[in-house]
Amino acid sequence: MKGKSLTDALHDIQSGNKENYIPEKDTLTISEKSKVSLSKVYGFATFYSMFSVKPRGKHIIRVCKSLSCHMGKAEEVIEKLEEVLGVEIGETTEDGEFTLEESSCLGMCSVSPAMMIDKIPFGNLTVDQIPEIIKKVKSEGSQEKIYTEQILPAQGRVVLKSVGVINPESIDEYIASRGYLALKKAIENGPQWVINELKKSELRGRGGAGFPTGRKWEFTAKAPGPQKYLICNADEGEPGTFKDRVIMEGDPHSIIEGMIIAAFATGCNNGYIYIRGEYDLSIRRIEKAIGDARSHGFLGRNILGSGFPFDIEIHKGAGSYVVGEETTLMESIEGHRGEPRKKPPYPPTFGLLGKPTVINNVETLANVPPIITNGADWYRTIRVPESYGTKLFSLSGDVNWKGVIEAPFGTRLSYIVNELGGGVRNGKKLRGVIFGGVSGTLLTPDQFDIPVDFNSLVTIEAGPGSGSIIVMDETRSIVNIAKNIAYFFKYESCGKCTPCRIGTEQLMNIIDRILEGSGKESDLEVIERLGQDMRLTSFCPLGQTAPNIIVQSIQKFRSKWLEHMKDKKLEGGGSYER
Ligand SMILES: Cc1cc2nc3c(=O)[nH]c(=O)nc-3n(C[C@H](O)[C@H](O)[C@H](O)COP(=O)(O)O)c2cc1C
Ligand code: SF4
Repeated sequence: MKGKSLTDALHDIQSGNKENYIPEKDTLTISEKSKVSLSKVYGFATFYSMFSVKPRGKHIIRVCKSLSCHMGKAEEVIEKLEEVLGVEIGETTEDGEFTLEESSCLGMCSVSPAMMIDKIPFGNLTVDQIPEIIKKVKSEGSQEKIYTEQILPAQGRVVLKSVGVINPESIDEYIASRGYLALKKAIENGPQWVINELKKSELRGRGGAGFPTGRKWEFTAKAPGPQKYLICNADEGEPGTFKDRVIMEGDPHSIIEGMIIAAFATGCNNGYIYIRGEYDLSIRRIEKAIGDARSHGFLGRNILGSGFPFDIEIHKGAGSYVVGEETTLMESIEGHRGEPRKKPPYPPTFGLLGKPTVINNVETLANVPPIITNGADWYRTIRVPESYGTKLFSLSGDVNWKGVIEAPFGTRLSYIVNELGGGVRNGKKLRGVIFGGVSGTLLTPDQFDIPVDFNSLVTIEAGPGSGSIIVMDETRSIVNIAKNIAYFFKYESCGKCTPCRIGTEQLMNIIDRILEGSGKESDLEVIERLGQDMRLTSFCPLGQTAPNIIVQSIQKFRSKWLEHMKDKKLEGGGSYER
């Protein structure tokens, strides 16, 4: 694809506009120049939450409202911001300095509650800090504030071996740590050898579905036609998930090297890395890594003198969870609203612009260099059959240690939370764990000893999902958690199909009613039936999985829902107004 993408063009217009928005005249200009209808350009601009078609303040404050931040009392942060700024959510201060907005997950769950002012993240917020932060931003502008992510030195580090060890902005340090050796070995042995090695390693995708990577690559390698694309999915929008950001910020070359090897094996000459717009530091680190890889001959027209041409472009997202779904992500790169495509056909044969396309998650691709360097046999020595290698877990919620953990598949969930994560905070008991994202599974203490691998999780109808683990202590209100999840899906549904568009709204309204004290026991049956209908009839996995945790919370904690209806008060205290 040639020229600037629609997302980049709109990002540029918005950031160059004093009132932080995309004026109608500019959408008109884009429409005329690109010969795309005005309604399409406008439809695109209004789909993504980071874009605005209405004037806003000089600084945009986006407060994360997703589950980990909600559990970290994001509501109190919002209330304080409203008080200090004298505006409500969605409004701009009279002096035009600030616009206050809510946001879905910002990927800062280990430092909740969190917010961003312009591109700068602020974590571990307390209400007392708010006046000072606002004063400072007003006088000095939004300053760089890089916090260091905690990485637990757990056993079995494969993907994170260099994170926190080498300087992520230095290609020399990456090379000194055996970087780009895998690429050389791949080129020496040829594409088919690489595919065979990947198949032998039995690496499975880390983006959620767990599809075997070697097989996916083989489909694209065998697909006819000279034009094929490779995409790295770095959209990471699942609440409670921030592991891909940690790789991008801490070891960007491992992803670039994985992408080049994947492209070499499958015959792709153009690559994209789609990074969510909220991850500014990741974008900058990947940008630098691509530039350095190019100047060292690892990217370009003739990689390492082999005659193999390949290059990578960054595509910046603009705020949408569903765009992480692979076909939706391709629609987004092509300049369309984030709506999923019908499958089949699948991306390996019909993907970006209708061409064969390999799409892999960041963590999947970061596994490739160690597999190629050390060999598939070495990789298969790491833990249990059919789940070889390690998995990254994003740990947050009511746990003593929050951050990213790398542990071999087969490690027990109880070990991850109690030993590596230091157990439930403040000596409280465990109520449950939201596992694999808010579209994943609600696990109760009796399931806590489950080994985390594909086969074991299937026995309890779960999967690793995004690898997020949100721990809930005994004081957490299940109804309140369900409400937060319903709100998230209602907001993120793309609206293409009725079961999800209406179903997510209905779920939210019923839970709202229960929280307001007018719930009836029959509401629980309605939620379960609605959940079943959404699972069976929604067009894509977003709508199919949106009711998962809510319905499971009724099945596993029915008495808590009934108690709530009877007492008409929120267990664990607090309020839920939004
Ligand atoms: C609603 C939704 C959101 C998703 N978000 C992401 C994401 O942020 N990152 C990701 O890698 N995969 C995400 N996926 C999964 C992708 O569709 C796809 O399976 C994945 O990128 C394939 O890579 P893998 O084989 O390496 O796992 C999402 C799926 C759905 C249904
Ligand atoms: S299930 Fe939801 S997100 Fe998926 S197509 Fe339907 S409305 Fe869109």
